[in-house]
Amino acid sequence: MRIDVVSIFPSYFDGLTLSLLGKARDSGILDLDVHDLRDWTSDRHRTVDDTPYGGGAGMVMKPEPWGLALDQLADSQSGSLSSSKGGPTIIFPSPAGEVFTQATARELATREHLIFGCGRYEGIDERVFEYAADLGEVRLISLGDYVLNGGEVAVMAMVEAIGRLIPGVVGNPESLVEESHEDGLLEYPSYTKPSVWRDREVPPILLSGNHGAIAGWRHEQQLERTRVRRPDLLSD
Ligand code: ADE
Repeated sequence: MRIDVVSIFPSYFDGLTLSLLGKARDSGILDLDVHDLRDWTSDRHRTVDDTPYGGGAGMVMKPEPWGLALDQLADSQSGSLSSSKGGPTIIFPSPAGEVFTQATARELATREHLIFGCGRYEGIDERVFEYAADLGEVRLISLGDYVLNGGEVAVMAMVEAIGRLIPGVVGNPESLVEESHEDGLLEYPSYTKPSVWRDREVPPILLSGNHGAIAGWRHEQQLERTRVRRPDLLSD
């Protein structure tokens, strides 16, 4: 999979190259590139924003650098018909978008080419989204119902959630199946040695060696935790 990220703060993403995703990148499973939007400006000040038409607070990101960035990055994989409508899937993180879930991560992990465009200030000139729709599939995606200062932190979370679902990135694929949200439930509790720690015992069933009973207990724990902590997941 190829992932391009465009941001005015590319160094935010240095952390993504650590650990798991760094290894996936080194082994060629994941081709991750982070680009500075200002590289597509042509004025002396490398300007990426301007005042909003119609007035109002804050600044809006100018369309020209975004247009040039998308032209170059969408083209860099010409011939890859990865999204449903052909061309890359172009994702703009936005608190006004669809909410990102494990199902979104699973869907996006099947794509060949993702482009993430990180907005800042009051957002990006609306015409950029219309233009991007001619190049590929456009998705506006929110990390949750709260407002961040820009898309960078949201994109880091999305890239990590998507990246670890690409076959070969997580060493033991079983660990992907037994996680919170994979089966619509929260994960069961885990314990390790010692069996007694500060007078607290590991649930005896886990020491029984009875694999069927352990699986049943874990499933009960998943249901109970989900009922208490996230009843909304059970009502869908
Ligand atoms: N940019 C600002 N807030 C955001 C959010 N909640 N999700 C995605 N991008 C954002």
